[in-house]
Amino acid sequence: MDAVSTIDLKPIATDKRLAGLWRMMTGYRLTYLAATLGVGLAALAKTGTYLLLGYFVDDVLGQEDYRRVFLVGLGFIGLAAIQGVFTYMGGRLAARTAEGVTLRLRNYLFDHIQRLPFSFHDRSQTGELIQRATSDVDAVRRFFADPVIGVSRIALLFSVNFVALANLNLRLALISTVVMPFVVIMSYLFFKKMSQIYEAYQNQEAVVSTTLQENLTGVRVVKAFARQDHERDKGRRESGEKYRRGRRRVGMHATYWPLSDILTGVQMAVGFGVAGLMTINGTITVGNFLTYVGLVIWLIWPVRNLGRMIVRTSTGLISYDRIAKLVAEDQEPLDEGDYLPDGSLRGEVVFEGVGFEYDDGASVLEDISFRCEAGQAVALLGSTGSGKTSLVNLLPRFYEYTGGSLTLDGVALNRYPRSFLRSQIGIVEQEPFLFSRSMRENISYGVGRDVSDEEVETAARAAAIHETIVSFPDGYDTLVGEKGVTLSGGQKQRVAIARTLLKDPRILILDDSTSSVDTETEGLIRQALRFLMRGRTTFIIAHRIQSVMDADQILVLDKGRIVDHGVHDELMARDGIYRKVYDLQARLEVELEEEMTSA
Ligand code: CTP
Ligand code: MG
Repeated sequence: MDAVSTIDLKPIATDKRLAGLWRMMTGYRLTYLAATLGVGLAALAKTGTYLLLGYFVDDVLGQEDYRRVFLVGLGFIGLAAIQGVFTYMGGRLAARTAEGVTLRLRNYLFDHIQRLPFSFHDRSQTGELIQRATSDVDAVRRFFADPVIGVSRIALLFSVNFVALANLNLRLALISTVVMPFVVIMSYLFFKKMSQIYEAYQNQEAVVSTTLQENLTGVRVVKAFARQDHERDKGRRESGEKYRRGRRRVGMHATYWPLSDILTGVQMAVGFGVAGLMTINGTITVGNFLTYVGLVIWLIWPVRNLGRMIVRTSTGLISYDRIAKLVAEDQEPLDEGDYLPDGSLRGEVVFEGVGFEYDDGASVLEDISFRCEAGQAVALLGSTGSGKTSLVNLLPRFYEYTGGSLTLDGVALNRYPRSFLRSQIGIVEQEPFLFSRSMRENISYGVGRDVSDEEVETAARAAAIHETIVSFPDGYDTLVGEKGVTLSGGQKQRVAIARTLLKDPRILILDDSTSSVDTETEGLIRQALRFLMRGRTTFIIAHRIQSVMDADQILVLDKGRIVDHGVHDELMARDGIYRKVYDLQARLEVELEEEMTSA
């Protein structure tokens, strides 16, 4: 199979529906046209069969001309062959178009969703996104697979059959199409209603998948709080709603089909009756009558099919709209920025009155000012929700600061391309995420070059995770996650530290990276970190005073503001939050030790 070319689908966000669908067909338009022609020709061959039948009965039958009988026989076979071959070709070409267009769409969405900014992902639900990229894309595929072709085919069949009928007898032709306007009106109403019902159904399906996805992700919380029953009830409620909406959808079909059956039935009865009378009183021949019956049945078929086309069209268009809405979300421009330094960063960071808020507009950081020389270690301390993670997330431009000035090596941060910043900044996140790949792949993830096994091992040793990894049966090839080993929180963090070590960034951000390990490991890691921090600008967020007391400067945050600032000794000398935290932690540790020794 030929490779699917890629095209930029971004414009479908602003295109009109038809223009957008047309754009999606780039590279497949001829194939699609050929498919339509193929299917149309096959249909015409069938019309031809009925005409030939009439001819056979009227002009060949009863005359002992075996040559003509033989030729008509050949004609039937030929028409059947044409019908078969073109149906097959049309089907194949249509499938190629539908699959190709949706493959491209799916790839585009996958890429697009990854490029959307953090702020988008903060406010969207994973389950819903998954549904857009799967179920909605599939509805678009079904739309391309037949309604578009089907509609052209119906139009073609209808006009050709009508002309054939009119040639036979104009009055009969008119009688046979008298219900058509009603069918069309009914179909249109059905289409409108069906679109609404389908949209409601699709929205509810998104709710159901989000519910399921959240329950799977949060299964630990659910179990820990013994909320299974509550969650089950919630799941049932949402599924119940989907069931009701699904029933309404099926109900629509159940109303539409009998109605169109009755209409077409009446149509046939009247038509056949009139044609029968005409045959009896000799207005038309028996052959004409047979052709007529064949053509009318053949004409009714596309009308009957209109319903299915309509459903596929309405579902396809609704899903298309939902996809276009997602495509309309702006991607994070990775390479936008007018300043690219010659080599790496030095790592001097200056905040001056920086303010920041998330999309919802509530201020999260206010008037943040401090200066960090290249290579210094800055520690951030503060209660939960005080804005520590938000502050460091500004540096790789995960979010844009909304006030003040923030410079890196003397240049405004937002002049650097995001991709450059991210190649220079390494983050060990608060809750590191590991992929379901091998240990080796997880550690060398995102380095951007080939790394040797030795390098991976050196990084793992420095992060105090090497021993753990080699204790697994497959060592560095052990898979992480569902199909492999399950790591503890602390082990995950150490893999993440190894990963960042290997990346060798100029600026290092450690978000609480020692919080979920025991004291002994913490010591090991702190050693590794000290090694890692050497010569780099480092931002370290920690709750334990021990982890931050060696820093070149310590910022104490509270409610998004810097409330204290200095080195350990200075902060201890003041009677502020820092002293309080220190005293509290020291006392806790002493108590803990006493308890351990007395036990
Ligand atoms: N916040 C938000 N949208 C986000 C992340 C955070 O509105 N995507 C808000 C939070 O509600 C919080 C504030 O921003 O009030 C600061 O959050 P954060 O910087 O994450 O706080 P930390 O100091 O990092 O807290 P922790 O110690 O718990 O990690
Ligand atoms: Mg945080």
